[in-house]
Amino acid sequence: MKLQGKTAIITGSARGIGKGIALAYAKEGANLVLNVYGVEQQEIEELSRDVSSYGGQAVIIEGDITKKEIVEEMVQTALSRFQTIDILVNNAGILTQSLLKDMEEEQWDQMINIDLKSVFLTTRAVVQYMIAQKSGRIINIASQIGQKGGVELSHYAAAKAGVIAFTKSIALELGKYNITANCIAPGPIQTQLVAEINEGWKLQKQKELAVPRFGTVEEVAPTAVLLASSPDGNIYTGQTLGPNSGDVML
Ligand SMILES: NC(=O)c1ccc[n+]([C@@H]2O[C@H](COP(=O)([O-])OP(=O)(O)OC[C@H]3O[C@@H](n4cnc5c(N)ncnc54)[C@H](O)[C@@H]3O)[C@@H](O)[C@H]2O)c1
Repeated sequence: MKLQGKTAIITGSARGIGKGIALAYAKEGANLVLNVYGVEQQEIEELSRDVSSYGGQAVIIEGDITKKEIVEEMVQTALSRFQTIDILVNNAGILTQSLLKDMEEEQWDQMINIDLKSVFLTTRAVVQYMIAQKSGRIINIASQIGQKGGVELSHYAAAKAGVIAFTKSIALELGKYNITANCIAPGPIQTQLVAEINEGWKLQKQKELAVPRFGTVEEVAPTAVLLASSPDGNIYTGQTLGPNSGDVML
């Protein structure tokens, strides 16, 4: 049990990569504060049941992560229920597509708000407690698109590149408090987010991959366990780890 007694906040965790990380953390003994938003009641019940089946303790907070009051509720719930905040996983995100020439300002702003600004809001809210306890792990789910760009994805690429640069900066600020900050930048992973991308894009993308298939959530979650664990993850900071089928090679 690598995360026994640790408390993790995970955003957007009702499905996909966020749910995969929640279950992996539950298996490793973590206490969980799980944010969910815009999903069916049935998915929330399944999440709760699945976490409990691993013996994990979880509190579910429903709401939009771009709202400061939801962020504050998560932080206060973690502190009152579990007394510490050891790990923050910023996973919530959306993906929409548009050529730049057709992109409305609203579409750009929505992307930056959800995929980038929310990372600032949650991290700023937890960091004072991590500084006080002189330990913490911040894990931000970026994307390989933030490293290489993507057609019809200029807003998504900009948001995710912003997450990577933000992460490096806070790694520099917070290392002296024994707080690490890292990104995971997955390649295409079989989740609903990718299911909604147009077929032409998916076929083209598959051809570009060194391992010519999209990954699974179970192939991403172990990286989030590594970064949260001690001593395994102790000296990773400011890094961008890439479970990405070889879509980006650094
Ligand atoms: N699937 C991929 O190929 C892939 C690749 C690279 C990066 N990512 C990133 O991984 C993360 C998870 O994506 P996924 O593939 O699991 O997709 P998903 O659509 O299955 O999950 C996204 C989650 O984010 C939540 N969410 C969206 N807006 C929210 C908001 N305003 N407040 C709170 N929660 C919100 C959704 O409810 C959902 O649970 C995202 O940040 C995504 O950009 C995914």
